[in-house]
Order: sequence, then C-alpha cells, then structure tokens
Amino acid sequence: MNFEKTILCIGAGYVGGPTMAMIAYKCPQYKVTVVDINPERIARWNSDELPIYEPGLDEIVKTARGRNLFFSTEIEKGIKESEIIFVSVNTPTKTYGTGAGMAADLQYWEKTARQIRESAESHKIVIEKSTLPVKTALAMERILTSMNNGIRFDVLSNPEFSAEGTAIKDLEDPDRVLIGSRETSSGLKARDELVEIYANWVSRERIITSNIWSSELSKLVSNAFLAQRISSVNSISALCEKTEANIAEVARAVGMDCRIGDKFLNASIGFGGSCFKKDILNLVYICRSLGLDEVADYWEGVIKINDYQKERFILNMLSAMFNTLAGKKICLFGFAFKANTGDTRESPAISIAGKLAEEKAIIAITDPQALRNAMIDLDGIDGGIEYVEDPYEASNGCDAIAVMTEWDVYTDLDYEQIYKSMTKPAFIFDGRNILDHEKLFEIGFNVFPIGKPPLTHF
Ligand code: NAD
Ligand code: UGA
Repeated sequence: MNFEKTILCIGAGYVGGPTMAMIAYKCPQYKVTVVDINPERIARWNSDELPIYEPGLDEIVKTARGRNLFFSTEIEKGIKESEIIFVSVNTPTKTYGTGAGMAADLQYWEKTARQIRESAESHKIVIEKSTLPVKTALAMERILTSMNNGIRFDVLSNPEFSAEGTAIKDLEDPDRVLIGSRETSSGLKARDELVEIYANWVSRERIITSNIWSSELSKLVSNAFLAQRISSVNSISALCEKTEANIAEVARAVGMDCRIGDKFLNASIGFGGSCFKKDILNLVYICRSLGLDEVADYWEGVIKINDYQKERFILNMLSAMFNTLAGKKICLFGFAFKANTGDTRESPAISIAGKLAEEKAIIAITDPQALRNAMIDLDGIDGGIEYVEDPYEASNGCDAIAVMTEWDVYTDLDYEQIYKSMTKPAFIFDGRNILDHEKLFEIGFNVFPIGKPPLTHF
C-alpha cells in the first residue's frame, strides 16, 4: 500500500507509544513506525501485553497495529524511510557532573540527533516531542547540519501535554496542540505539514503555533504551573491541620472563583510522576544559569513544599501511632503515582515506603497495576515487604492503612470486613482524601485525612 506520509517516532515509551498509536488510529493514510533501543519494550508493544497500562490504549493499538502502525528496533531503516521524525526519548534529571540533580540529561536526545544525521539520506522534519530545555532546537540543528552533506533538516517543537491515566482521552481531544517552528519559509512549511497531521482530528482553533523557543519553554512552564497549584493547596493543607479548617472546603471556595478555577486543587501526599519534579528542577537550573536567582528560588519552593508534604505525612503517622511504628504492619493502598496507571516513577509511595522501613514497620503493598514496578523500586529495602494484589488480604492483620493512590477500587471496599481483620486500634491515613471518613470513624477506625481534622476514638 502507498501511504501519504511516512512517520517515525524514536522512543517507544509512555509518550511515543500512545501518541503514535493515536496518529496511526486517526490517520490510516499515514504509515507510523515507532522504534526503540530496548528490544524487550518493542516485543511487548508487539504482544497482547503492552508495556504500559493506559485506559483505552489496547483498543487503538489493536486496531492500527499491522495496518499502519509498526513497532520495531530497526532505527536506521526507520530513519531512512521516513520524512517526518518525532523524537520522544527520555530526558531525565542529570545524576552526574555539572548540573547533577537539576539539569536535564540530554545524552539520549543527543545520541538520537546524531543517529538521524548519520542515517538520513533525504530531507527530514525532526520534531521534538520530548520535554527539553529552551534553546535545545538550536543544538539539534547544529548537530544535524554538522556533516555538511547538503541534506536539509527542519526542526520543530511539538511538546506533549497528555497526562498518564487519561492519555488516550487527552490525545483524542486535547486542550491544545502546540507547534513551534523557525520563522523561515522552510520552517513554516514544515510547521504546516505537522498542522495537517493533527488537523485530521483536532479542530484548527486548538492547533496553535509559535516561535520555537516559546514552544519549548511553554512545556516547562505548563508543568511548573500545574505542580505549583498542587504545592499551593498542599501548603494550605498543613495550615488547615493546625486550625481545624478543612482543605476540601477551602479548595472548593477558592476554586469557584473562575479566575482561579477548580481543577488540580486536590490536596495529597504530594505530586509524583516522571515529569513535574524533573521539569521544575530543569526550569530552576536554567534560571540560575542565566543569573535569575530570585526566579529560580521561587520555583524551587514548589519542590520544597512537595518534599515537606511527604515528610509531614510520615510524621503525622508516627505521632498518631504513639511515636513508634516498629514491628507494626502498615498496608499501603496503591503504589502508582496516580490512578489508572502502573507507572511508579517519582511516586510519593516510594519515599513513604522507604521511611516506613527506616522506622522498622512491616510493609504490605497492594495496587491493581503497579506491583511489578513497586518490586523494582523497593528492591534492596531492608525488611520483608509483601506485595499482594487483593486489598483484603493485604490489609489483613495490619495496624494501619495508608492510601497512596486514588484508585476507585479503594472507595468501594467493605471497610467493616477490613476493620474486623485489623489489629486494634486501627488507623487509616487517607493520603488522597478519597474515603468516606465519617463512615470509617463510625466503623471504629481512627481516621487521619490530609488537611482536615482527624476523627479519633481517643
Ligand atoms: P520513557 O522512558 O517511557 O520512554 C523513552 C524511551 O526512549 C525508552 O523506551 C528508551 O529506551 C527510548 N530511547 C532512549 N534513547 C533512545 C535512542 N537513542 N534510540 C531509540 N530509543 C531510545 O519516557 P516517557 O515517559 O515516554 O517520556 C519521554 C519524554 O516525553 C520525556 O522528555 C518526558 O519529559 C516527556 N513527556 C512525558 C509524558 C508522560 O506522560 N510520561 C508526558 C509529556 C511529556
Ligand atoms: C503531567 C501533566 O498533567 C501533563 O499535562 C504533562 O504532559 C505531563 O505531566 C508530563 O509532562 O509528563 P502526569 O504527571 O502524567 O501529567 O499526571 P498528573 O495528572 O499531572 O498528576 C501528577 C501528580 O500530581 C500525580 O501524583 C497526582 O496524583 C498529583 N495531583 C494531581 C495531586 O496531588 N493533586 C491534584 O489536584 C492533581
């Protein structure tokens, strides 16, 4: 079959897989190939057990795979055959050398740029899908054109705004698609080609264009603003706990001002996920490198409050449970960084489990999708940790339950049965404020929500 366009995506992760599956699903006239250096990951994309859990993903992959969606490890071949190349490799926080712990580690991204340069035999549109520091496109252009072989490359920025757990819905009906380009005639032509791809299912008003630096920076700033809202509400949850105010009531009253808005105001044990922390650290690093220390300090505060929120959670547990957790069994309800994903990267549950182990607690973990990742994250932690799929079995005999992830399944459990099976006094620490606290209190639990007065029988 002759396809209208040949599209390649380098990096078959949480972004590359779902975004390309959506393009292939919506545009059967294009051939979409996703490549990765990790053969195991590619094998899973080609199997019935996809490497990531995302509601709705299985269906669209099943429809498009083999028709116009392909997963492969043949990177060189993919580059040669494609006119349009998305790059969605990982850009984690650097762990070594200058900028360690702050700057983005661009080694995977740079290797990709070199691979494209070496394998390309004709004009390519190269699209930054990964989240990158502002001005990265300039470096990409320099690498791509350094062979001086007459091949033209147009670099675009097209950051991804979908969130895990809702990625398919976000990709199908995005608030906006952002495309940044050079304002040269060739840059604008490349931009129009990408607009044309999204216009197959996204309305034109939602496809916005900008200069390439604004596009790169907008991605970091969007994540910083989102995370800032969570740290803002979490900082006030600490104040609520000292004043008998209720964070849910405060958030509702504040969020009803349409200038503020009601989304992303759920107090929690802190934000997790692979992007908020790394992207804010990167923003802070860029600001400091440019001598903007006050701006850097301002955004660093978002991370500090997030760390504080996790520490506060453990300190509250310790103080409620008579200042010792040693030998007590604590059951973690959820381990994923949010509901509807098996992803545990930067999940608050990782540091909370680590701190519980330091306090010599016995830990049982349950989660509908994330146990496999939890085992990897907690490998090497002293003391046996139980991983149990069934929440009733996991909480059997425990002293306390701590809700880490807002999975719906935890709101529908039979808490009378759970209470009976637990050691008394029985505690629930609701790190997501998803349970019916009054009802739990009536059953006999001592209930500690976030940012609300505790309900105790003492
Ligand atoms: P990921 O780690 O899940 O996937 C990245 C993939 O790239 C891995 O499978 C890795 O093997 C592959 N890779 C690395 N170097 C390669 C190379 N040279 N050639 C081929 N493959 C290579 O990461 P992710 O969560 O998909 O994130 C990717 C980027 O997208 C990051 O910059 C992230 O900040 C950004 N982002 C992520 C999300 C999200 O929901 N996770 C949302 C928006 C933006
Ligand atoms: C986030 C952004 O929402 C996406 O727009 C962005 O594309 C993505 O990062 C990225 O760049 O990777 P994601 O991290 O997948 O998406 O999930 P979110 O829904 O943003 O949740 C992040 C964390 O904040 C989770 O731990 C969640 O539980 C927590 N959260 C969220 C709260 O604690 N309270 C809230 O009100 C909302």
